[in-house]
Amino acid sequence: MTHTRRGYKMEQRDLTGSGDEKSHTNGGDRVAARKADHLEICLSQDVSFRRLTTGFEQMQLVHCALPEVALDRVDTGTTFLGRALSMPLMITGMTGGFAQAEEVNTRLAQACQSQRVALGLGSQRQLLENQQHLRSFSAVRELAPDIPLVGNIGAAQVAQRGGLGAVERILRMVEVDALAVHLNPLHEALQPEGDTDFGGVLAALQQLVEELPVPVIVKETGAGISKEVAQRLADIGVRYIDVSGAGGTSWAAVEYYRGADPRLAEKFWDWGIPTALCLQELRSIPGLHVLASGGVRDGLDVAKALVLGAEMAGAAAPFLKALFAQEGPTVEELIAQWREELRLAMFLTGCAEVERLREVRYFLKGRFMEGR
Ligand code: FNR
Repeated sequence: MTHTRRGYKMEQRDLTGSGDEKSHTNGGDRVAARKADHLEICLSQDVSFRRLTTGFEQMQLVHCALPEVALDRVDTGTTFLGRALSMPLMITGMTGGFAQAEEVNTRLAQACQSQRVALGLGSQRQLLENQQHLRSFSAVRELAPDIPLVGNIGAAQVAQRGGLGAVERILRMVEVDALAVHLNPLHEALQPEGDTDFGGVLAALQQLVEELPVPVIVKETGAGISKEVAQRLADIGVRYIDVSGAGGTSWAAVEYYRGADPRLAEKFWDWGIPTALCLQELRSIPGLHVLASGGVRDGLDVAKALVLGAEMAGAAAPFLKALFAQEGPTVEELIAQWREELRLAMFLTGCAEVERLREVRYFLKGRFMEGR
């Protein structure tokens, strides 16, 4: 980690960890090596979707020439999971469970605490095998006591490994405000070590929703959640869904660079439902708290996500990159930039509070002459 004039920046050195972690054959160490690969590939390669986009770029919010509020009175604040935030933003789950992950999560925790935005932990699956790197998760709560902190586990793992009991063990190890369960069938199918048995996931999720003391957030990891899937989740009692749609980080691309079957991975590079389309689809399901991630890249995207009915927006890759880039804004500065962009978008759409954004109209660029 280096200190620069602008704050902390981390160096991308030896992220894949010690040779020990790579050569050990027990399950926990294999997971650690894989998580390190993911971080390194996301930092060193372009793993964005190539042709498919989020859809946010096609939306133009209808300008309000009469905002009737002072710019500095526009309130970007919100509450999520009972905690006050400076804006509706979460850095979504990325990492944990290997030596360097502690440094990454520590820095993200400090930034989220100081800027008052929510933070997700990366998959805590490894804690089921060993607790060698427990601190890479638990340190976060110590450094970020006031923000919503979201735990993380994979759906396939929940269905296969003793479900509720396993998750309860994880929740006892790190105190979180909600648990994200990720649905990532594309990623599991493309990685050689993938858990491709998704049978019984819905029943396992229902048990978690009914028994856990914290809310369950069901999330994708960049391929999106359709209204049919959301309805099935709502029917078993899920109240929080993070659509994590297509247009940002592509996990097929990450697996392309990991190289087990690059031909197959490349075919599915652009697979998924664009984030804006997911949001539009989920609007018809009442009672859901919808989170929008997958390709959210600035405060304007946050505003558009809220216009489409999301309660919170989230992003992963941009903040990871900000943490390691030797130039450009720090994580704190990037969050502050997004907040100012959101504030201006609210001002220019006449919204003094974030809740008002869902009443804002938009048109699709390139289609506004339609009907003449
Ligand atoms: C992720 N993501 C992720 N999601 C999850 O539920 N559990 C995890 O362990 C991880 N790990 C992870 C590592 C890295 C390096 C990245 C970049 C991402 C997925 C993430 O939370 C998010 O859903 C997607 O990355 C889409 O958002 P962005 O990256 O397009 O903003």
